[in-house]
Amino acid sequence: MTGPELAQGDATPLKKRGMNGKRYKPGKLGQWGVFFRGFVEHPVMVGSIIPSSRYTIAKMLDPVDWDRCRLFVEYGPGVGTFCQPVLDRLPPGGALIVIDTNPLYIEYLQRTIDDPRFTAVHGSAADVQRIVKDHGHDGADYVLSGLPFSTLPEGVGPQIVDATYDVLREGGAFLVYQFSAKARDFMARRFARISAGFELLNVLPCKLFWGWKDAEPVAAVEAEPVREKAVAVA
Ligand SMILES: C[S@@+](CC[C@H](N)C(=O)[O-])C[C@H]1O[C@@H](n2cnc3c(N)ncnc32)[C@H](O)[C@@H]1O
Repeated sequence: MTGPELAQGDATPLKKRGMNGKRYKPGKLGQWGVFFRGFVEHPVMVGSIIPSSRYTIAKMLDPVDWDRCRLFVEYGPGVGTFCQPVLDRLPPGGALIVIDTNPLYIEYLQRTIDDPRFTAVHGSAADVQRIVKDHGHDGADYVLSGLPFSTLPEGVGPQIVDATYDVLREGGAFLVYQFSAKARDFMARRFARISAGFELLNVLPCKLFWGWKDAEPVAAVEAEPVREKAVAVA
């Protein structure tokens, strides 16, 4: 499945039109209402009925080195549970790009988050490299994912992990939270070093993973054979 096929509907004229061409009245639904509606319309793609807890948010973001963060990318922001906490920590010159396949969520975020560092893109995480480049960046420092890896269409999970590894700068990390540990199996195809955590205070309790993109080991330079100096013996 390609990125554009995964990105459902059309995100542009969403002020008056919701998912499946139904009319959507902006402002009528609160944050939870919008999230719930997105779940009802696309249960498999959303994968959760309730947004992440503040405990999950704090624990997931804790290892981030904010001083070095120029670009933070988030996949599957939903109604933006992580967006404000990320913006609160991001330096003034930093940027946050969020990518979601659900136009209902993207329209909600564009309407409710007013911060020059924030960009909400309707699309698939599989297209992260193109999206990052289109927005003038040469790579991301951190990528956060709330994607339901275990229920994504066949082949999409590995595609997203590969694209994420390639878009990350060295020293950066892929931050993943999920109800099942399956996400770790997907991450392991590219990330050699993965740290793990757990948050009980979340509906449902949640597994947390940080995949680190370490500097590539420098290929060993073959040493010149040491020639012994001929010592003249008198
Ligand atoms: C479990 S919800 C995450 C909700 C939110 N991040 C939170 O913590 O409360 C998963 C989100 O992933 C989005 N999604 C599913 N597949 C996607 C893909 N291929 N690319 C980007 N977003 C995707 C869904 O539309 C949904 O918003």
